[in-house]
Amino acid sequence: MIPREIIEEIRNRSDIEQIIGSCVTLKRAGSNVKGLCPFHNEKTPSFTVYPGSQSFYCFGCGSGGDVITFVMKYNNLDYAGAVEYLAARAGIDIQKDNTRPERGVSRKRVLDMNLCAARYFREQLFSPQGAEALAYLTEKRRLSTAVIKRFGLGFAPNHTFAMLQYMRDHGFTDEELKAGYFESVGGKSGKPYSIFRNRIMFPIIDTTGAVVAFGGRVMDDSKPKYLNTNDTPAYKKGRNIFALNYAKDSGGETMILCEGYMDVIALHAAGFGNAVAGLGTALTADQARLLSRYTKKVILTYDSDEAGQRATERALQQLTDVGLETRVLVLSGAKDPDEYIKAYGATAFSRLLEESRTKFSYRAAGVLSKHNIQNSDEKIAAAAEICRIIAMSASSVERDICLDEAAQLLGIGKDILKQDVERLRRRNERSRLEQQSRDAYSSARGLGDKVNPDYVRNVGAAVAEETILGLLTAFPEHRDAVAKGDVRLTGDDFITAFGKRVFESVMELHADEAGFDMALLGERFSPDEMGRIHKMMRTRLDLTENGKAVLTTSVTTLKNEKALQNAKESGDRMTAIESRLEQLKRIKNKKDNT
Ligand code: GTP
Ligand code: MN
Repeated sequence: MIPREIIEEIRNRSDIEQIIGSCVTLKRAGSNVKGLCPFHNEKTPSFTVYPGSQSFYCFGCGSGGDVITFVMKYNNLDYAGAVEYLAARAGIDIQKDNTRPERGVSRKRVLDMNLCAARYFREQLFSPQGAEALAYLTEKRRLSTAVIKRFGLGFAPNHTFAMLQYMRDHGFTDEELKAGYFESVGGKSGKPYSIFRNRIMFPIIDTTGAVVAFGGRVMDDSKPKYLNTNDTPAYKKGRNIFALNYAKDSGGETMILCEGYMDVIALHAAGFGNAVAGLGTALTADQARLLSRYTKKVILTYDSDEAGQRATERALQQLTDVGLETRVLVLSGAKDPDEYIKAYGATAFSRLLEESRTKFSYRAAGVLSKHNIQNSDEKIAAAAEICRIIAMSASSVERDICLDEAAQLLGIGKDILKQDVERLRRRNERSRLEQQSRDAYSSARGLGDKVNPDYVRNVGAAVAEETILGLLTAFPEHRDAVAKGDVRLTGDDFITAFGKRVFESVMELHADEAGFDMALLGERFSPDEMGRIHKMMRTRLDLTENGKAVLTTSVTTLKNEKALQNAKESGDRMTAIESRLEQLKRIKNKKDNT
């Protein structure tokens, strides 16, 4: 927990317009400012910054929040990380007030723990205990000591608690070691043991130089081959890129993206300092966005097997979505870049880099490898598939270039292919419009709602909840009315679990002496959830009718729905009708009395 005074101080000194303005081009629109949303692709600005409430909201993708939420989303940080970032920017020292951690383990503490662990693993690698591991790296993988040191590689000895003991001696508690993903407890014995044993350790370092996690590889064929740090307060899966800390300073505008740690290390050792890797999982949108901040072009060199090809297709999509130019390097005669360089050398690899294919050439080559175009039926099928690929491109210049290439490859006139492509585009456009109206319909009804999955089960109640929560977050007098009992409402009146959580958090903060503050919710809700909460507030702020009557009407609706639901659950229809009658009676009495 970061003390709220500090958070308030940070927010007072971090102007949202200035901070977002340094990442997004903003134009004034009335009392607010607008720009192109950094969280989804758009051509007309629907991303709005509200200096008045120090918040932002995107009508296109629904992201929203305050300055802390923005920094979390934009810089890929957790709440504590975003607060630290803003504090550093505003020159506020949070360290000295940071003597916690009664609740949970802080990101900072995990980072300290990781650094300590990295030192331990490295010492072990160069000690007699690590002789076999060191031999594996230098002989079998042919890495020089310099490269091993540059990447901070290490060794986790085959021992249940030696590592844990070292960490305890350095002041880390068992609770902290568990939070940092170093310690686990045996199911049967109940005894603590180190998670990483008898593995080569690869530290994962973020762009600020902090060790955020580890990957550990076995030295034989046992499974699992790699064991990676699970989510900790300092690390979330799918958000980091291995070796980006080095590649970002390699000077060029291109990066080489491969699959494995070992590929990256081999490439760096061979002089390709711009090599990076995703970490095991398929490339995520977060990772693509992270890359787009440091490079313009990405050359994909995934493994040459089928899984690698599928991963290539997915990565191409993610990278294109964030506006990166892409190339694909196709390996032949080796499984991955590491093996290729060992077999054919760095010069041969440079040549492959130069010959790397555009996304279209790569996809077209894939199509042609499946069809024998000497046969006219197959040629028609291949042409149709290639036209479909070209039609996906939104740029007419790009389509034209691809059409030239396709005409050459297939030996079919460009004009003919072009007709087919344009026909497909018209068809795609029609189905896109249809899809759009379907999406609007289902989002209006809350279908496929990830933030609030209960929405769809009771839309009437969920809408009432959103009205109530919008009013409570926007207006202190409504919070007061609920806190004092003027308006009777408790967490148990809520139907969706999300609504209940938001309500309880808002009221809990309101009960605190210092009062409710939107920024403090960021510690309890994810950026996506914060987006929804801001939308509820925004909706109310944009409306003129926000009086007590609106609140009480929604509360009544919600309570009626809840009563109905309770009755349904107990299978007792009579009770439902009775309770509804009861309520109607009460409302009527109230009216008669006033
Ligand atoms: P070498 O086999 O030593 O050359 O390793 P590599 O780095 O080339 O790995 P490989 O191509 O087999 O896998 C690519 C990446 O996927 C690795 O670097 C890991 O990040 C990840 N990975 C591979 N195997 C596993 C596994 O068993 N578990 C997890 N969590 N990740 C894995
Ligand atoms: Mn490999």
